[in-house]
Amino acid sequence: MSYIAVLPGDGIGPEVVDEAVKIIKSVEDLTDIKYQLEFGEVGGSAYEKHGNPLPEITMELIQNCKAVLFGAVGGPKWDDLDSDLRPEMGILKIRKTLDLYANLRPVKIFEALKENSPVKSEILENVDILIIRELTGGLYFGEPKMQMNEKPERSAVDTMFYKEKEIERIVRLAFTISKSNNLKLTSVDKANVLETSRLWRKIVDELGNSFSEVEYNHMLVDNAAMQLIQNPRQFNIIVSENTFGDILTDEASVLSSSLGMLPSASLSFIPGESNDDKKSLYEPIHGSAPDIAGQSISNPVGMILSTAMMFEFTYNQKEISDLIFSCVEKVINDGYRTKDISNSKNYCTTLEMGDAIVREIRSR
Ligand code: IPM
Ligand code: MN
Repeated sequence: MSYIAVLPGDGIGPEVVDEAVKIIKSVEDLTDIKYQLEFGEVGGSAYEKHGNPLPEITMELIQNCKAVLFGAVGGPKWDDLDSDLRPEMGILKIRKTLDLYANLRPVKIFEALKENSPVKSEILENVDILIIRELTGGLYFGEPKMQMNEKPERSAVDTMFYKEKEIERIVRLAFTISKSNNLKLTSVDKANVLETSRLWRKIVDELGNSFSEVEYNHMLVDNAAMQLIQNPRQFNIIVSENTFGDILTDEASVLSSSLGMLPSASLSFIPGESNDDKKSLYEPIHGSAPDIAGQSISNPVGMILSTAMMFEFTYNQKEISDLIFSCVEKVINDGYRTKDISNSKNYCTTLEMGDAIVREIRSR
C-alpha cells in the first residue's frame, strides 16, 4: 500500500484537487500498486482551524506518505498575518523540511491551444521546454529576512544566499537530465550584478567540464525573460535559482495559453536514481486564484498533469503518466475548454473537464 498525502489548501485548490483524485481512481486498475489517499489541511484553511498554516497533524500525515499532492494556498483574507502564519508558509515549510530542492516545470504547448496564446503561433512551433527551478534556497529562505520598523524610516531586508552544495546539486540534476535526453541546457543567472550568480556560473562551468557531452550556455535573466517570448524554441532545458525560476515559469505559462495548464514536480533526488526513502510533492504552478474560487470555472489540467508527474517520478510508471497526458490532450482536441482557455462564450466547468478526462482514460 502506498500512501499519498492530499492537501487541497485554499481558493481553487480544493476544486482542482477533486479532479486529480478522480484521475487517480480511474488509473488504479491499471497498476499493481494500491494507493491510499490521506487528506490534510494546509495554508489559510489550516490557519483558520489550527492557528497554523502547517499544523503538526498535517506534518505527521506527510511523514507517513510517499508523495504529496498539493493544491494551492493563499488569499487576501490572510494578507495581513505575520510572515510565519501566512498561508504561503505552509508550502515553503514543506519544501524545506522534505528538502525538495528541485522543482521541474515542463512547458508543453498543446497544438489545439496555440491560437489561445497571445504569442504568435509560428513562434510557438516546436516549443517544448523544461524549466528546473531551485526550490529551497535563495531569497525565499536566506537570513536576515525581516522588516525594521525603526524611526525615522522603515526598512526591510531579504537575503539571497546560496551554499556551493545547494547550487551544485540542482545544476548536477539539470546536467543529468540534459545528458540523458540529449538536450541543450541554458543556465539563467544575473552574473553581471549578483555574487550568488557569479558563484552559480562558476559551478555550472565546473560541472560543464565533467558533462562534456552536454551543450550548454549561460543567459542573464533579463535577457532570458525577453527571449522566452521572442524566441522560445531556442530553449530545451533551463536551470535557475528560486526567485528567477518562479518568475520565468509564470511568464512561460503564457506560451501554453494559461497559467492553469502547467504542472510541477518537486523532488529531492535526481530522476531515475533511487528514491526509496525520499518524498516528493506535486502541485500546479498556479496559485489559489481566490477571485474565481467556488465557481467551478478553474482549470484542473495543471493539477491533473502534476498527478501524471507523480506516477512518473515517485512510482516510475511512465506509461500511466503518458496515458494521462495523452487523454488530456485528446479531451482538449475534442474541444473541452475551461474559461481560461476558451476563446468563445462557451466553456465547461472544472468538473466537466475532469469527467471528460476520466471518460477518456476508461475508454482506453
Ligand atoms: C509557486 C508559488 C509559490 C512560490 C508561493 C505560493 C509561495 O508562487 O509555487 O510558484 O512563490 O514558490
Ligand atoms: Mn509562482
